Amino acid sequence: MAQANAGSGFRIVAREDYSDVTYMLEVAHPQMARAAQPGQFVIVMETEHGERIPLTIADFDRERGTITLVIQAVGKTTKEMQSNLKAGDTLFAMVGPMGIPSHIGKAKKVLCVGGGLGVAPVFPQARAFKESGAYVIGVLGFRNRDLVFWEDKFRAVCDELILCTDDGSAGIKGLVTAGIQQAIANHPDIDECIAIGPPIMMKGSAEATRPFKIKTMVSLNPVMVDGTGMCGGCRVKIGETVKFACVDGPDFDGHLVDFDDLMFRLQRYRETERQASEKFDENCRMRSIPSDAGGAT
Ligand SMILES: Cc1cc2nc3c(=O)[nH]c(=O)nc-3n(C[C@H](O)[C@H](O)[C@H](O)COP(=O)(O)OP(=O)(O)OC[C@H]3O[C@@H](n4cnc5c(N)ncnc54)[C@H](O)[C@@H]3O)c2cc1C
Ligand code: FES
Repeated sequence: MAQANAGSGFRIVAREDYSDVTYMLEVAHPQMARAAQPGQFVIVMETEHGERIPLTIADFDRERGTITLVIQAVGKTTKEMQSNLKAGDTLFAMVGPMGIPSHIGKAKKVLCVGGGLGVAPVFPQARAFKESGAYVIGVLGFRNRDLVFWEDKFRAVCDELILCTDDGSAGIKGLVTAGIQQAIANHPDIDECIAIGPPIMMKGSAEATRPFKIKTMVSLNPVMVDGTGMCGGCRVKIGETVKFACVDGPDFDGHLVDFDDLMFRLQRYRETERQASEKFDENCRMRSIPSDAGGAT
């Protein structure tokens, strides 16, 4: 596993913003780029005293020696990174690749489903299935056309792509489950489905494939602290067993996951997270007020 930095940090070679809240960072780390497999993640610290946050390796380029992270600014750390980081800056620490790589088996026809930010992490799997010779059907879901990203990247690795938006402003109108139903109606021989996105979306996707007995893998996102299986923070219920997503996952059989338990556990720190986020927003507002504002006479 590649280690945290040796003092100089990991250089951001490119940044792109996909919407007001979603941004991409391409980070130079040749060793990580060589080792990364679909489904794995890194734990990142923006600064020496920053929080450790898990982020999926949404793409890797072994020749350029870079990995790509796609991040949604949802709270203090991800907002701080959004406002601070640009190409040329460095991340203080990055550990990985972590987690068990996704199993890219011998499935002949695969459905790769991404909802919102989950579109990014499902990309390496879609590409790996395509490289393994499978027929790949992509289903991407966004709230509206303005939030769509990576459509071209998916078109390049998918045999078919179904774009869904909640408001119908691009592709078909409806949730990803509408796209899944359409794909299954046209292809009764789908062997496997991979669905990544918010827990409620993964739950809906697993329910959409269950009646057809299509094996469905999901990537779980419980709160992670150490990422080594020691703290128990990322405990998830899979059928009758308890697993730690950081070392036993993050991919699990979606038909066995207790999504209600996952969603309940994700709520536990909401109040503290809300306070930290509000404090960050307030500090940003204060910084943007000119120092002589209101003081001149
Ligand atoms: C394996 C894995 C891969 C992930 N990949 C991505 C990704 O590619 N892009 C992305 O934007 N987000 C990803 N996340 C979620 C990301 O880690 C959280 O959004 C981030 O930690 C939020 O931190 P914050 O301080 O900005 O927000 P906070 O206000 O602290 O939290 C907002 C929400 O983020 C989640 N969260 C908070 N802390 C953690 C934590 N330590 N571990 C996991 N979730 C947390 C909780 O649901 C929380 O309610 C991933 C999570 C996991 C477990
Ligand atoms: S993050 Fe601590 S056990 Fe998984």
